[in-house]
Amino acid sequence: MRGHFITLEGPDGSGKSTILKLIENYLGDKGIEFITTREPGGTNIGEKIRHIILDNNNTNMGGETEALLYAAARAQHVHEKIIPALEDGKLVICDRFTLSSLAYQGVGRDLGIERVKYINDFAIRGIYPDLILFFHVNPELTLERKIGKVSADRLELEGNEFHKKVYDGYMELLEMYPKNIKIIDASKSIEEVFKQSIEEIESLLEQGE
Ligand code: TYD
Repeated sequence: MRGHFITLEGPDGSGKSTILKLIENYLGDKGIEFITTREPGGTNIGEKIRHIILDNNNTNMGGETEALLYAAARAQHVHEKIIPALEDGKLVICDRFTLSSLAYQGVGRDLGIERVKYINDFAIRGIYPDLILFFHVNPELTLERKIGKVSADRLELEGNEFHKKVYDGYMELLEMYPKNIKIIDASKSIEEVFKQSIEEIESLLEQGE
């Protein structure tokens, strides 16, 4: 049987990475076979592309280049890691996927959702997440969480206006493509956000039994 594919989405500062670690511990304790991976990256080639994309020295990178690099990293990820793991029957949890490109490049960089979707459809060979956990926090809160963070990368260093656009983009996308998306209220405590996330994951896994 094909494994399940879960992705985590949300603006910078939504706390996804913290929750992902808790999810990993939980699944490990339950003896569920899974892999976790991230975008951009997840493969040797993808991590090299990640380095180019997030490098603070690349100040003159065009929006189209950025979108194509994310899509290229994603194509390699799907080809080398995600499809083989799903075919092996494993649960795959991926930190960010196509929706990030639609929000950050499509809306944040003004490239247009449809155009960015087009290059991503080419990259992902028809796979679609069975569950997308969307970590919702309003832009004021992510800003507060960002203050004091030391190692900001090229995307994180973008101004508040860019991040507000990304947030609005996500809101638009939730309406455009609601399929398999579950909204998690990530302004709550870590325990609460973790509990909500596990409930959604458990409910997906039960369906597949
Ligand atoms: P990362 O350090 O992984 O951030 P986070 O912990 O918030 O996921 O950096 C990824 C950055 O790249 C993040 O700012 C979001 C951005 N991004 C895009 O702009 N488009 C994409 O397709 C993806 C996957 C990420």
